[in-house]
Amino acid sequence: MAKARIAVLISGRGSNMAALVYAAKQPDCPFEIILVAANDPDAAGLAFAAAENIPTFAQSHKGMKRAEFDAILDTEIRKAKADYVVLAGYMRLLSPEFVGKWEGRMLNIHPSLLPKYKGLDTHERALEAGDVVAGCSVHLVTAELDDGPVLAQTEVAVMAGDTPDSLAARVLIAEHQTYSRALAAYVTRELDPAWMLEQVRQRAMALPGVEERTSHGSPGFSIIGSKFFALFSQYHHGSERIALLVKTSGPEEQSMLIEQDDDLYYLPPYYGPSGWIGIRLDLGQTDWEHIAGWLQKSWLICAPAKLGKSFDIAADF
Ligand code: GAR
Repeated sequence: MAKARIAVLISGRGSNMAALVYAAKQPDCPFEIILVAANDPDAAGLAFAAAENIPTFAQSHKGMKRAEFDAILDTEIRKAKADYVVLAGYMRLLSPEFVGKWEGRMLNIHPSLLPKYKGLDTHERALEAGDVVAGCSVHLVTAELDDGPVLAQTEVAVMAGDTPDSLAARVLIAEHQTYSRALAAYVTRELDPAWMLEQVRQRAMALPGVEERTSHGSPGFSIIGSKFFALFSQYHHGSERIALLVKTSGPEEQSMLIEQDDDLYYLPPYYGPSGWIGIRLDLGQTDWEHIAGWLQKSWLICAPAKLGKSFDIAADF
């Protein structure tokens, strides 16, 4: 799988960015840093990035409207062909337009155990509250400040006599450990079988009258108390593939699909003769709309006529 291309946004020191740059030097790291951009041309992190031969972009946001400045950033990030935007001490609110464009593909690190202490002065607030643990969180960026789904957290013990600075210094060590791991896990999530199963589950369970149960040890989805219409196949019958098995209309359709795309489709051992087709989920480029379509089609083949009809009517609305 190609490495995920990461644009990092900074405003100052850039030590989290540096930690990501060093992590990316490991040959098995699944991401590479392809751009470091700052909203302050004097940000110290820019010189570090340049020394590491990473393309940089810097422009002051002063005197510009938020959306206007963010549009310039967006253009630079797209020119660099980034897959993800990673905020590393980027201390400027982003416009809803920008956040919307990078939804699900933008991460941030925050120096608190979210949902505690969103915003600024996190360490002061943790100490004032008498917390015995502080820490950091990596989360997806949504329109609300420091509010998106948390991907990873590391707890840091508060020590006797800690000041906001001494606590910040230890939390920063934890940040440097946490960010690259969380980013690596996130950019490779599509290769995680548990993630794939969850995607299938959400789409299968959205169909009417469906339950999840196992079939010969594999997770499967059936019409309640009746036939299976979808199976999640992982290392099944000696196969190395991770795939969704769904019903076709029969041998003709099976052959046609395999002829059409023999990377994506295959005849599953044991299930093939009864009309099932395997659709690979482990190629790193799954089209989940297409999978939803297949689940619906297979459901319609297996559902009793009455249930199928009610679904047709529902789908018309
Ligand atoms: C880090 O502690 C980061 O968590 C924090 O700014 C610092 C940047 O340091 N970010 C926020 O507070 C965002 N809400 P760095 O420039 O050395 O990475």
